[in-house]
Amino acid sequence: MKPNVYVTRILPESVMQSVALNCEMGYWAKEDGPVPRDVLLESVQHIDGLLCLLTDKVDEELLMAAPRLRVVANMAVGFDNIDVDACTRHGVMVTNTPGVLTETTADLAFGLMLATARRIPEGRDVILRGEWKTWSPMFLAGRDVYAQKLGIVGMGRIGSAVARRARGFDMQVFYWDKERLDESCGAKYMAFDDLLKECDFISVHLPLTPDTKHMFGKREFSLMKPTAVFVNTARGPIVDSRALYEALTYGQIWAAALDVFEVEPIAKDDKLANLPNVVAVPHIASASVATRTKMAEMAADNLMSALSGNNPPNLVNPAVTDSQSYHEKRGTA
Ligand code: DGY
Repeated sequence: MKPNVYVTRILPESVMQSVALNCEMGYWAKEDGPVPRDVLLESVQHIDGLLCLLTDKVDEELLMAAPRLRVVANMAVGFDNIDVDACTRHGVMVTNTPGVLTETTADLAFGLMLATARRIPEGRDVILRGEWKTWSPMFLAGRDVYAQKLGIVGMGRIGSAVARRARGFDMQVFYWDKERLDESCGAKYMAFDDLLKECDFISVHLPLTPDTKHMFGKREFSLMKPTAVFVNTARGPIVDSRALYEALTYGQIWAAALDVFEVEPIAKDDKLANLPNVVAVPHIASASVATRTKMAEMAADNLMSALSGNNPPNLVNPAVTDSQSYHEKRGTA
């Protein structure tokens, strides 16, 4: 008998077909938004596997509603939408999609740095509004990226990929992380506060955890240079957005580039995104056709691998195999 699965958004056709071939598949068919919570809770009642996105919350309530659930395959590298401890207790494997989105995400982080420093979106707006009158000496004068100091906060896969790009721009690259890396990482370790004080660009590449929530607040922005550009392509809640708004408004820092927000989606009149010194985009760091396709394929492979009795390649909670419920659900207790 095929396992029952639910997919919370329409994925590329080849991926939907491959899941449908191997599983009894239900899915949320509307493209314009996430599956409503009540529909999700209803849909998980008899499923063995869930393929979900970062817009879907997997918590105790959902796990209680899905007594047969064996795997949650998230189509994202981040999994802060999932209560992993609760999944482990319920014997549910959790998987993510690391690696495939590293370079695409680093491209966007670097692109945002350039766009913000060189005021590219403002330039486009000036043209579209018909306000370009002449060439003038300091018109839309921005900040150099070349040879400046870049501070990377979180030197994992994506942070390291941003560092590689920065070296092509002759930047001096520094990083802070909980773990110090060896010299071969291509960046110099700096203490967190020193990095905030010294660097011209600060780019965040950390997961959202209880430790990183609001890691950037009033104190951190007050340490930065008034010329600093702050870039966040990681997770919105790592930054206290009110503190960032104030730092940008009072000239404590020069500009910010944001792909992620404390609450997503943001409204058209969002105060922070509407500041003239903010470049905001809607959580698209991994959004290239090739990468999003690979992420969907990887999530589907994780899902099907777990359901066919294997340890999926990107298992986030290996401790799940010690849980009683894990074995009960598989009849190996
Ligand atoms: C992730 O994968 O965590 C990103 O935020 C979306 O690609």
